[in-house]
Amino acid sequence: MSNNTSYHPDPERYDGRMPYRRCGNSGLKLPSISLGFWHNFGDLDDLVQSKRIMHRAFDLGITHFDFANNYGPPAGSAEINCGKILKSDFSNHRDELVISSKAGYHMWDGPYGEWGSRKYLLSSLNQSLKRLQLDYVDIFYSHRPDPETPLEETMGALATAVQQGKALYVGISNYSAELADSAISILKDMGVPCLIHQPKYNLFERWIEGGLTDILLANGVGCIPFSPLAQGLLTERYLDGIPADSRAGKEHGYLQKSEVKIKIDKIRALKSIAEKREQSLANMALAWVLRQPSVTSALIGASSVEQLEDNIQCLNQLEFTAGELAAIDQIVSA
Ligand SMILES: NC(=O)c1ccc[n+]([C@@H]2O[C@H](COP(=O)([O-])OP(=O)(O)OC[C@H]3O[C@@H](n4cnc5c(N)ncnc54)[C@H](OP(=O)(O)O)[C@@H]3O)[C@@H](O)[C@H]2O)c1
Repeated sequence: MSNNTSYHPDPERYDGRMPYRRCGNSGLKLPSISLGFWHNFGDLDDLVQSKRIMHRAFDLGITHFDFANNYGPPAGSAEINCGKILKSDFSNHRDELVISSKAGYHMWDGPYGEWGSRKYLLSSLNQSLKRLQLDYVDIFYSHRPDPETPLEETMGALATAVQQGKALYVGISNYSAELADSAISILKDMGVPCLIHQPKYNLFERWIEGGLTDILLANGVGCIPFSPLAQGLLTERYLDGIPADSRAGKEHGYLQKSEVKIKIDKIRALKSIAEKREQSLANMALAWVLRQPSVTSALIGASSVEQLEDNIQCLNQLEFTAGELAAIDQIVSA
């Protein structure tokens, strides 16, 4: 791999600024905060900014970058754009990075372009590796369960990816507690343990507390919640309306304006608790996710270096009193 870069990572990046947490009972540790590439790295985004975010993340000790085949827009463009940056700026640091990708959602037309068949998953992984310009990913996920494909086939495709040397570990995402339990057991029988589950989890979305976290803890499987800031709702982004450059303000953003309106009173109430903790709302929301014993890492998004730097400050105040947790529960369940 060539390396014509002016980027020189901060030599102090492993000085303890970022705590690394063991992923389940595996040998792999992940940074407490990981960076996701769903938004902000596609063809419609400012790629100078995208590159700055990747550099700053690595300097802050964020060693885990999370992709999927369909991230963009257009689908695939996040892997293409960042593949170039990985090659030019990070090729000397490949062994310091945990890079994941996924397949499950629609990626190409025809009967083999989505869901969970062996045909789709292994073809998609080959495509992701080409776009990312990598020989292997560290983690390959089934992005969502497929109600029409036998779970054995989907899990078998993940195991094959490892046997082919195209993935070091495998994971599942958006699987219910019951399906996760079955998937974990099938993978175990195949000799390829499930490393990690990637569910949505944040102050507004607590479904994993109803059984999944117990299953993950009992089986030694890690957990990396996505959208821990509820796509930006759990920050100060929307306190004075919907900025044009925000996810809810952009046409291609996945956050609906209506969601902002529905949640704004709760967001303000949560902010007042964060203030008493002398923490930003985003920091409190991330600390809250990281307090959960099954959670290995919080998988954030960031549209600027400033957001990344703000979010990392959560690590300075991770503890909650019982009173704070009760007050938070009361607000979110109202
Ligand atoms: N497995 C799955 O099905 C699945 C689904 C979704 C996501 N994911 C993964 O999870 C990652 C994170 O998801 P997400 O982007 O929804 O996470 P998130 O951390 O909940 O939201 C990130 C967005 O919040 C805003 N933000 C972040 N920090 C901020 C701060 N300090 N102050 C103000 N605003 C802030 C930014 O939006 P603005 O654009 O408004 O600045 C940013 O893009 C994705 O990139 C992807 O890797 C996986």
